Amino acid sequence: MSLHPKEKELYQKLDLQSIPHHVAIIMDGNGRWARKRGLPRIAGHRAGVNSLRETIRAADQVGVKILTLYTFSTENWKRPSKEVRFLMKLPEEYLSKEIDELCAKNVCIKQMGEMEGLPEHTRNAIEDAMDKTAENTGLIVNFALNYGSRGEIVRAVKKISRLASGGSINEEDITEEMISRFLYSGGQPDPDLLIRPSGELRLSNFLLWQMAYTEFWFSETYWPDFKKEDFLQAILDYQKRNRRYGGLTK
Ligand code: IPE
Ligand code: IPE
Ligand code: MG
Repeated sequence: MSLHPKEKELYQKLDLQSIPHHVAIIMDGNGRWARKRGLPRIAGHRAGVNSLRETIRAADQVGVKILTLYTFSTENWKRPSKEVRFLMKLPEEYLSKEIDELCAKNVCIKQMGEMEGLPEHTRNAIEDAMDKTAENTGLIVNFALNYGSRGEIVRAVKKISRLASGGSINEEDITEEMISRFLYSGGQPDPDLLIRPSGELRLSNFLLWQMAYTEFWFSETYWPDFKKEDFLQAILDYQKRNRRYGGLTK
């Protein structure tokens, strides 16, 4: 494993027995990173891809099982069309370059969000990557692309309501477990750790249901400056947390 001295120091401090199973990341701050350098916002998005690659490598190395990455929110369509067009090109550019390494690492790619709303070329690139990695049994990488948590909950409620009005379920069959199952994340455990760089202290419509008991970790670093050592530091801090789920410490 190639690690810089600082990364090595952090890695040695990690308790490999209590690595978070599922880590979610809001990859934020690309625009501000670019502005600080007098560059167009899209340069920030492109630079952010390096952090994405490093983070996937780090997650794989320490044994995280699921990584959920907020790539494009349903609210991000409000941005200038030039920026949106660029962001919709980025998945195919990224996947075509990285798919071999992802396959070699046994990574399984999944999409969380509304596929229908995406341009055809973006959808094709993601479907292709999902097909190529479907049988892989290693790290699961969920790309939350055209994802909004409230929309996800409404979608689940509609599906359940259809079952109820069709008579296939009764009111008492509706449980928290059932609602979880009808979300895009259905079948996956909730995130243990949320990482949001860039100084923003909010969820921005990300995994509202799933993060009821997730540990939050924020940093000021803009996403393109986010390094492996930031990821390791977040896990190290997570390992010092005391998760009580409303109960008392044993
Ligand atoms: C995150 O960076 C990427 C997306 C939302 C697609 P931003 O583009 O939000 O960067 P800032 O927050 O404006 O710096
Ligand atoms: C959240 O970041 C979405 C992604 C990082 C993909 P935003 O930059 O869109 O969030 P707000 O607007 O600051 O809340
Ligand atoms: Mg932002």
